[in-house]
Amino acid sequence: MPPKIVIAIKTVPAVEQRASALFDAVLVPERDMSVDEMLEAVRHEARGLMITSSQSMRADIIARLPPSVEIVATSSVGYEHIDVEAAKNRGLIVTNTPGVLTDSTADMTLLLILGACRRARDYIHIMEEGWRRGFNQSQMLGIDPRGKTLGIVGLGRIGQAVAARARAFGMSIAYTGPQRQPPESEQGAQYFPSLAEMLPHCQILTLHAPAGQQTKAMMNAAMFALLPRGAVFVNAARGSLVDEEALIAALTSGHLFAAGLDVFQNEPAYDLRLRDCPNAFLTPHMGSATVQTRSAMGMRALDNISAVLAGGTPIDPLWR
Ligand code: DGY
Repeated sequence: MPPKIVIAIKTVPAVEQRASALFDAVLVPERDMSVDEMLEAVRHEARGLMITSSQSMRADIIARLPPSVEIVATSSVGYEHIDVEAAKNRGLIVTNTPGVLTDSTADMTLLLILGACRRARDYIHIMEEGWRRGFNQSQMLGIDPRGKTLGIVGLGRIGQAVAARARAFGMSIAYTGPQRQPPESEQGAQYFPSLAEMLPHCQILTLHAPAGQQTKAMMNAAMFALLPRGAVFVNAARGSLVDEEALIAALTSGHLFAAGLDVFQNEPAYDLRLRDCPNAFLTPHMGSATVQTRSAMGMRALDNISAVLAGGTPIDPLWR
């Protein structure tokens, strides 16, 4: 009898088919499981569980997992929804899916940069309204990314992929992070030891840092004030990195020309005052939402579950 696993998310058909071929897999018909549904599903000797970043694995939920559960594989690169200490204490193996969503998240970041710089939201609105009024050459103007300095907070895998794309659009790259990267990762990018030192140099800023105590609300009113007037702010990482009151104030006052945001403090119930800022170009946390990437994420999570349930070591453990 193949091992029993629970796929607590609605994933793409190819992942579901592979899960069913390899395991006695419990699948969901149409939506991600709630906590109670998940706990009920794993109750009967499940050995593996696949979740994603919108499903919490708090300490109290981990405590309620039956002893049969050996691995929780999150189909996401972010893992702030998982209480790592509680998982370690419980002897649970936890894996994520780094690497496979680098390109799609970097593509999304460029969409946000270009959309914010080129007023995509205004243009979409005009076309949806039926566009019956012409514009003269002084109207509806965006700004060119070419020639601007793009500040990247976190030159990891995704930050580097964003930098490569941004260079093709004529931007030069500055970055900050806990440590300076080797020259092959920097590719000529200028390192600043602190965010505060970098911000005055950035006409465009994009965040690629993980959620956590150290990065919580790192972009606050004082930090937004350090950006040059007319800067563009982009976030496809996590909403918790941003003080949204300060962001709304910077958008409303015109200190920021525009923002491109894929992530929010509260999702899906994001702060509707952001919707009411016409210079905010918004997408609903879709950085990894392509057919290929969602499939690769699910397959990678399955690879991790397979490795562990076969008695081997996981490919992407959160700790070793
Ligand atoms: C991730 O993988 O962390 C993405 O944000 C999707 O949740």
